Amino acid sequence: PVIPLRPLLEATEKYQFAQGAFNVNAVAQVKAAIEVHEMFRSAAILQGADLANGFMGGRTDFFNSTLEDKKAGAKNIADAVRKYGENSPVPIVLHLDHGKDFESVKAAIDGGYTSVMIDGSSLPYDENVELTREVVKYAHARGVSVEGELGVLAGVEDHVFSDASTYTNPLSAVDFFKKTQADCLAISYGTMHGAVKGKDVKLRKEIVIAIKECMKHERVFGALVSHGSSTVPKYIVDEINALGGDIQNTGGIAVSELKKAIDCGIGKINVDTDLRMAVTRNLREFFKYNPSKRDSASIGAVYQILEEKKNQFDPRVFITPIMDTVMYGNIPDDDVAAVVECM
Ligand code: G3H
Ligand code: 13P
Ligand code: NA
Ligand code: ZN
Repeated sequence: PVIPLRPLLEATEKYQFAQGAFNVNAVAQVKAAIEVHEMFRSAAILQGADLANGFMGGRTDFFNSTLEDKKAGAKNIADAVRKYGENSPVPIVLHLDHGKDFESVKAAIDGGYTSVMIDGSSLPYDENVELTREVVKYAHARGVSVEGELGVLAGVEDHVFSDASTYTNPLSAVDFFKKTQADCLAISYGTMHGAVKGKDVKLRKEIVIAIKECMKHERVFGALVSHGSSTVPKYIVDEINALGGDIQNTGGIAVSELKKAIDCGIGKINVDTDLRMAVTRNLREFFKYNPSKRDSASIGAVYQILEEKKNQFDPRVFITPIMDTVMYGNIPDDDVAAVVECM
């Protein structure tokens, strides 16, 4: 079934796992991602960005997408998720990634998204709270979940560039949840977007712990989201460059760092760049050996990256959770009923 994000977040909170959230940029990737998650009996979070909604609306100059284009694109991707996901045995969420204003969020919801992010992190705190609260009101009235963001990730985010991270203040995070009623919050604790994150990035896990402790103390519900969490596998970079590419100074977040962050309380982990890297490699390879053909390289990329993540992480986190815990009885019987009910 296609569901909102909230029940899945409640499950991650209750059973202390994290769910991978993967960006899709084409209908073929929607189908492939649902197939892989079914194979692993995992719930799925598929994410479309504003930009993806723009070009899914059929524009080639997608940077100039109008609201109407975004709406059409949102509907295209949501229709695909419903087509392949409605009768699926695993729960599937379609989430807007980095929605940048109320109109974009509205376009996504009207198009059929079941969850949205409003990224007001570049606004002054009070304006971020106000905007997020407004989105929550509109979204929750329609059964749609909401992710907000507090803090600034180093690098490029939402068209804003920053040299350094401004880490999320734990007390502000609690205040933000209380005032906005958002379901989850993207935090800044050392991750960054893109393929050049630095060498040996160490995450500030104590920030995650501090936020969680403050929330527990104030009895506030909310899941924490780790953006910019691609591992940027070196072998894929090497393959791209061996096929004529020129991608330098790459660095991702180590699997070991992400595992520790999950143990500290991260509940959702966003991945986009790893999929783009695999698509890039596949395209270069395909055209090298098939100069007269045309094809989409996106399906194999989804299979490769998602299977790799499944193997790298403990089966109870990242990409297996719910269905396996239910099927293999890792959790108490009455809890199983509660999880199934969530779905
Ligand atoms: O989060 C926003 C974008 O999806 C990230 O794009 O993978 O090129 O950094 P990127
Ligand atoms: P990466 O660039 O590390 O894949 O992060 C993706 C992301 O945060 C999408 O919102
Ligand atoms: Na930010
Ligand atoms: Zn992000």
